[in-house]
Amino acid sequence: MIKWTTSVGGRVGGAAPLTDSHLQVPRGLSCTLSRQLTNRWPVSSNVSTNWPRSTGLSGKPLSAALTGWKHSGAAGWAKSGGSVLVTNGPAIEIRGLTKRFGALEVLRDISLSAFDGDVIAIIGSSGSGKSTLLRCMNLLEVPEDGQILVGGEEVRLRPARGGGRKPADRQQIDRIRAQIGMVFQSFNLWSHLTVLQNIIEAPVHVQKRSKAEASVEAEALLAKVGILDKAHQYPAQLSGGQQQRAAIARALAMRPKVMLFDEPTSALDPELVGEVLRVIRALVEEHRTMLLVTHEIRFAREVASRVVFLHQGQIEEDGPPGEVLQSPRSERCRQFISSQLRG
Ligand SMILES: Nc1ncnc2c1ncn2[C@@H]1O[C@H](COP(=O)(O)OP(=O)(O)OP(=O)(O)O)[C@@H](O)[C@H]1O
Ligand SMILES: [Mg+2]
Repeated sequence: MIKWTTSVGGRVGGAAPLTDSHLQVPRGLSCTLSRQLTNRWPVSSNVSTNWPRSTGLSGKPLSAALTGWKHSGAAGWAKSGGSVLVTNGPAIEIRGLTKRFGALEVLRDISLSAFDGDVIAIIGSSGSGKSTLLRCMNLLEVPEDGQILVGGEEVRLRPARGGGRKPADRQQIDRIRAQIGMVFQSFNLWSHLTVLQNIIEAPVHVQKRSKAEASVEAEALLAKVGILDKAHQYPAQLSGGQQQRAAIARALAMRPKVMLFDEPTSALDPELVGEVLRVIRALVEEHRTMLLVTHEIRFAREVASRVVFLHQGQIEEDGPPGEVLQSPRSERCRQFISSQLRG
């Protein structure tokens, strides 16, 4: 939890949204900040994502606009004496990430941070590297170059025989991976287990929680995603939308700090898309930290705090949805968005 303090020394917290007057917002930025803070307070730790690009503060918290604040690496932003705010570091951060498959360079020098409560929509055409980026964050792929930090802890990688890198510490990988929930396009439920068994599998066998406790929590999660009545059915007995909601419940059961969604609705019939988006929207309202690869541009505009446009393995646009989706700087991004909105 982040502590915000005002210039008069008191803590700003509880249910009260921050207002511009609390924060001495620089001239010209008040509308953006008011909206962001009212919507996201109190859990969002960072209001970086709605800074207009023109301010040069994109990617930095509000503190950066206020004198005396400095970024201190994984520890986040800090101020030496004085008034305004303390934040923690990113929930997940990648620095200078490069990923190759043989001679094919799929991601090139990608840097990206998600702070608590951020919802980052990742868009881009097929083959641009979106899934590979999420898979690197979840350590399903090991990047050739760059760093991955989860909750400020750097994933330790070492050179592999024959080139590339591999995890230096398997236990660290398991521990870090447990903090990241992943939802795939194709659900990936175990077909021989019931929905409830799917959900308690990792909490019981990986996190060593009791079956009884995990089952109670699983039922609560199934109720939350609206399929409690399917708890004892097998995946094949569920519709695609219900399977995807079960997959979301399964990811949440690990109590992850960050959720990654890779096109969670693109395998669904159009009439089933809405029920999955409703569940994701509810998670946004809980201020969960999420990275969401999606072709649902309208949905991204509605829920994302930030939109990243990938092109040929590089970040070509990165900013608030109002800017990237409505007035993109790059022609390629503009064409991509209009093709998606037409489709
Ligand atoms: N395991 C792999 N081995 C070799 N090449 C791969 C592998 N995984 C992905 N690629 C290649 O990396 C590139 C990026 O793939 P990726 O799946 O990340 O794209 P994407 O943006 O998610 O595309 P889509 O929108 O179609 O899902 C593609 O050229 C793909 O063929
Ligand atoms: Mg993909």
